[in-house]
Amino acid sequence: MAISNKIRGFMEKGSWIRKMFEEGIALKQQYGEENVFDLSLGNPVMNPPERFYTELKKISENPINGMHRYMPNAGLTETRSAVAKGLSNETGLSFTSNEIVMTCGAGGALNVVMKTLLDPGEEFVIFAPFFVEYNFYADNHGGSCKVVPPDEDFLPNMEIFRSSINSNTKGVLINSPNNPSGIVYADKTLSEICRIIKEKEVEFGTEIYLVSDEPYRKIIFDNLEYTHIFKYHDRSIVATSHSKDLALPGERIGYIAVNPSCPDIEELVNGLVFCNRTLGFVNAPALIQHLITHLQDTTIDVRVYEKKRDYLYKELTNMGYSLIKPQGAFYMFPKSPIKDDVQFSEELKENKVLVVPGRGFGLPGYFRISYCMEDATIQGSLEGLEKTISKYQ
Ligand SMILES: Cc1ncc(COP(=O)(O)O)c(C=O)c1O
Repeated sequence: MAISNKIRGFMEKGSWIRKMFEEGIALKQQYGEENVFDLSLGNPVMNPPERFYTELKKISENPINGMHRYMPNAGLTETRSAVAKGLSNETGLSFTSNEIVMTCGAGGALNVVMKTLLDPGEEFVIFAPFFVEYNFYADNHGGSCKVVPPDEDFLPNMEIFRSSINSNTKGVLINSPNNPSGIVYADKTLSEICRIIKEKEVEFGTEIYLVSDEPYRKIIFDNLEYTHIFKYHDRSIVATSHSKDLALPGERIGYIAVNPSCPDIEELVNGLVFCNRTLGFVNAPALIQHLITHLQDTTIDVRVYEKKRDYLYKELTNMGYSLIKPQGAFYMFPKSPIKDDVQFSEELKENKVLVVPGRGFGLPGYFRISYCMEDATIQGSLEGLEKTISKYQ
């Protein structure tokens, strides 16, 4: 046996997206690329903004001496300063490079945060539906996740949240805009979450961190304003990346931002920098740090996603699917017309449409559609989506 029983079990539990991806490849070989509509992956087909290529050209024509060397584990000072400036503009708070650690994507950032905070046996509270990797990330660092189910609107059930916090709770992890539901947390939700955290800190005499995983922060629609966590809880940390807002997921670039008002901030940031190093990341990729230093005020064209959302939402509701209109990110999470979301996803697959069952996100009874695809793929999927639901009407 080559691998541990634990990892074998994890691979079985956490492989929905990969499974659909692989089945998609097999289907495409069988029926032809243009006849299979893969809406299973959150891998944007959009290219990075033009300015990214301008910066890339500039640096390749005028390389900076030493730019590929090791650097301080927190990242390049000028990049961290640029990120701090961008965040200060966005939040109205005063960030400096001292509160920023550059990471290998949001996934790297979350692992660094969890490694730094968790003692063995401690927990993070997470909210379903959630990004499937959270459980594995917590396990990487000797911890675990406690899952709070949502109300009908995909917002946390606050009563269950309250009772989920115990003396072992080290953090609460939120994700807004949410993968897979596309829901964006409003002030009311965030303030309620933080009120409960404070109440529980007093009850247990503990310190609980609010960690916000926000790679989709800049992808929000309908002129919504993003509500930042910092004003609600001093012990708060953002983990994010440019995987989605600059369409650079393969470049593995993200950052951690610690609330400037966080108590014991110096020790916390030193811990984060140490873990960035000892997890083997050492530092975030150098070349891409140089580039994003000049791109903090740039985002992909969010209207492209908004148009895709409007189109698909209208089509799906007309077909009879029940779903909440996403406010951000590039996913939809319709209700499965039958209880068994895996069976329904299989039936969609038979009609050449690939989606991910909701149980892959801790919420059976739904399925996730990713619409960061070409319009032709979205349009092509409609026939299969309609045919599959029509059986149940
Ligand atoms: C909610 C959420 N968090 C984290 C990540 C990881 O992002 P990154 O590619 O920046 O590591 C993703 C990627 O899809 C995501 O959807």
